[in-house]
Amino acid sequence: MSESTSVNTHAAKNGSKREMWSSRFTFILAATGSAVGLGNIWKFPYITGENGGGAFVLIYLMCIAVIGIPIMMAEVMLGRRGRQDPITTMKHLARESGHSRSWGLLGWMGVIAGFLILSYYSVIAGWALAYVPIMGLGTFNGMDAEGVNAVFAELVASPESLMIWHSLFIVMTMYVVARGVRGGLEKAVTYLMPLLFVLLIILIFYAMDTGYFQQGLAYLFNPDFSKITTEGILSAMGHAFFTLSLGMGAIMVYGSYLPKDTSIAQASIAVAFMDTLVALMAGMVIFPIVFANGLEPGAGPGLIFKTLPLAFGNMNYGTVFGTLFFVLLVFAAWTSSISLIEPAVTWCMKTFQLSRVKTAVLLGVFVWLMGLLTIFSFNIASDFTISSTISTQYGEFVILKDATIFDFLDYLTSNIMLPLGGLMIAIFAGWLMKKEFSREELKINSFWYSTWFFLIRFVAPVMVIIVFLNAMGVIAFMRHIFNA
Ligand code: TRP
Repeated sequence: MSESTSVNTHAAKNGSKREMWSSRFTFILAATGSAVGLGNIWKFPYITGENGGGAFVLIYLMCIAVIGIPIMMAEVMLGRRGRQDPITTMKHLARESGHSRSWGLLGWMGVIAGFLILSYYSVIAGWALAYVPIMGLGTFNGMDAEGVNAVFAELVASPESLMIWHSLFIVMTMYVVARGVRGGLEKAVTYLMPLLFVLLIILIFYAMDTGYFQQGLAYLFNPDFSKITTEGILSAMGHAFFTLSLGMGAIMVYGSYLPKDTSIAQASIAVAFMDTLVALMAGMVIFPIVFANGLEPGAGPGLIFKTLPLAFGNMNYGTVFGTLFFVLLVFAAWTSSISLIEPAVTWCMKTFQLSRVKTAVLLGVFVWLMGLLTIFSFNIASDFTISSTISTQYGEFVILKDATIFDFLDYLTSNIMLPLGGLMIAIFAGWLMKKEFSREELKINSFWYSTWFFLIRFVAPVMVIIVFLNAMGVIAFMRHIFNA
């Protein structure tokens, strides 16, 4: 396979011709496009703030290294070996290694998870879209924290405004899905992502200027384990899956286009590294601003929309940089949203024999409708909350506390469905797939292969299970029994 041609066809196992990434670089680009998104810039800072900072960040980083990277390698590997949509791939690979076709269920869960995530992802991307004109008009120039908060509050209080921006983002996503013009988008991102990086660096300089940079860094990197809760640990793990786009087949689909001779390990590590870097940089920007302005780190999903405008409103050329920043954030979200819906698209096209365009329209309508639940959970239905606590004499186990519909959807997908998908991928790759197959795909030296194999066979699945059991209170219960 030559590295220079842009579209290669390749005879896949089933004999059909399939498009291939032209090089490892294209794969890394697309996978980074999927991984780097709202998860890094919007979600990471706000859940870090909700979970008290450093200890949460440390657990998140550990999860990336020990669970995320090995599972990413496994997911890419399964995708490349199967060369189909996730459901068919899992069925096919299960049979190849002599196991049940019901592994196709894994692909199913991924289709549903991606659909649910996109329904709220699109609403938040809509906030970013809304901030483009708001910033562009210079609204935040010289504004104080109170004013900035009010702008955000006004936006989310209006179901109509949110609907408009949510609709626009769904149309953008489905347009690319329908036209299959992702080639163009990915080329654009080649220039835009480095630009986003540069803007983050400019913002870091601003953050240094606030006089609270030290405090922000300390908040991010000095772990205070008294602040971490069992749900916090679960969120850190869930976020590792979310931010790397793992556990639902998105990366599997991308892997299915990967040429045979590309190093899966190097590519996965590169993607995870860039993703983590962007998230940490976002944190280094947000928290100094939070402390400098006496804001609350645990302000919730609005955190970046309440802090970044303060920075832009008070720096030279802030209007230009601020507008550009939200444009770039929209682009980052755009390349992620496409990967969220891609498994559902391939599956729908195949199952209902629909064209790409019809599938895109149909799914677009459904995701849009589902997104209304998230929209309303920020305004007219904000009082509708779910709480679920298991209280035993061994302690209280908060599963959900005053969760809005949005919180619930996020919890269900990030903290449960993605880790469960990842767990199944780990079990499949580590225990069921023939070792000769994984060795053949990964093609790394025996030291690294053994390391990966140990992580995927024991460490990743055991950690996911422990975190689940811990969140459910089972571990505390056992400890009590054995102490008694
Ligand atoms: N990783 C993306 C982000 O951080 C979101 C995303 C895209 C995703 N595709 C995914 C999350 C697949 C889970 C699964 O914004």
